[in-house]
Amino acid sequence: MESHRLLVANWKMNLRPSEEINFVKKHYDRLVNLAKQSNTQIVLCPTFLSIMSIAKNISSNSTNTYLSIGAQDCSTRAIGSFTGQISAACLAEIGCTHVIVGHSEERRAHKESNLQVAHKTIQLLIHGLTPIVCIGESASEKQTSRSKEVLSTQIKTVIDTLNKLSSARRYNLCIAYEPLYAIGSGNVPTTEHLEEIFGHIMRELRNAPSIKNITYLYGGSVNSRQLPMLKKVSKIQGYLVGNASLSFQEMEKMLTSWMVSRSNCISRAEK
Ligand code: PGA
Repeated sequence: MESHRLLVANWKMNLRPSEEINFVKKHYDRLVNLAKQSNTQIVLCPTFLSIMSIAKNISSNSTNTYLSIGAQDCSTRAIGSFTGQISAACLAEIGCTHVIVGHSEERRAHKESNLQVAHKTIQLLIHGLTPIVCIGESASEKQTSRSKEVLSTQIKTVIDTLNKLSSARRYNLCIAYEPLYAIGSGNVPTTEHLEEIFGHIMRELRNAPSIKNITYLYGGSVNSRQLPMLKKVSKIQGYLVGNASLSFQEMEKMLTSWMVSRSNCISRAEK
C-alpha cells in the first residue's frame, strides 16, 4: 500500500465479544471499501477475547490489506509464570499486527512505568508487531509548561531500550500523542499546541535506532466533528479513537471526510 493514513479503533472494555464480532461481520465490506477509497489502514483493537475470531475472519479474506487487528496491551515478559498476562508471541500467533502500549488508563490503573512501556515495546518489535506507544501529559503538567519535558522522558526511555534490538532488522513504530485531559472529555488541544508538540516529538525521535518507519497519531476525543480542525495539523498521520470508534456511523463519517479531502488535494495539485 502506498503511504496511507492510520485509524486505530480502541474499543477498550466497552463491548462483549459477541458484540465485537458482530460489529466486524456486519460492517466488514463497507469498512474495507471506505478504507480503500480513503487510503486508510484501519486497525481494530477489541478485547483480547475477540481477537482470534476477528483475525480469522479478516485473514480468510486474503485481498484485504486495509483492515487489521490489534490488541490493547501485552506483557513486558516473553514467556513464563506470569498469571493473567498475554505475551507478544501469543498476539503475533493469533494474527495481531499492532498493539497499544502505555495507554494512560493502563499507566494509571497499574502504575505502569515508562520502563515497563519500553519493555512491552521491545517484546512487540522482537515478535514482528507494530507497537502503538501512547504518550501524553496531564492537565496540570500542561498548565505548568511541563508538556515537552514529560513527553521527552516518556520517549527517551523507549529509545534507550531500542538500543538492545538487533541492528540488522528495521522496525515499525507508531507514537500516539494522547494528552490525558483530552481522553473522553471532548476537549481537544488547539492546532497550535498540536503542531508544536508533534514537532517536538518528531525531533526527539529523529535518531531512534533501528526504526525504519514511525507513524505519528493523535488520540483524545477524536470524532467526526473534531476532524476538520485536527486535519489542519499536517504532522498528524492518523488517529487513535476511543468512543467514536464504537459507532459505525462515526467511523463512516471520518473515513468519508478523508475521501473528500484527498480528492481536494488531488484536484488542487492538478490545477
Ligand atoms: P477517546 O479515547 O477517543 O474516547 O477520547 C481515546 C483513547 O483513550 O485512546
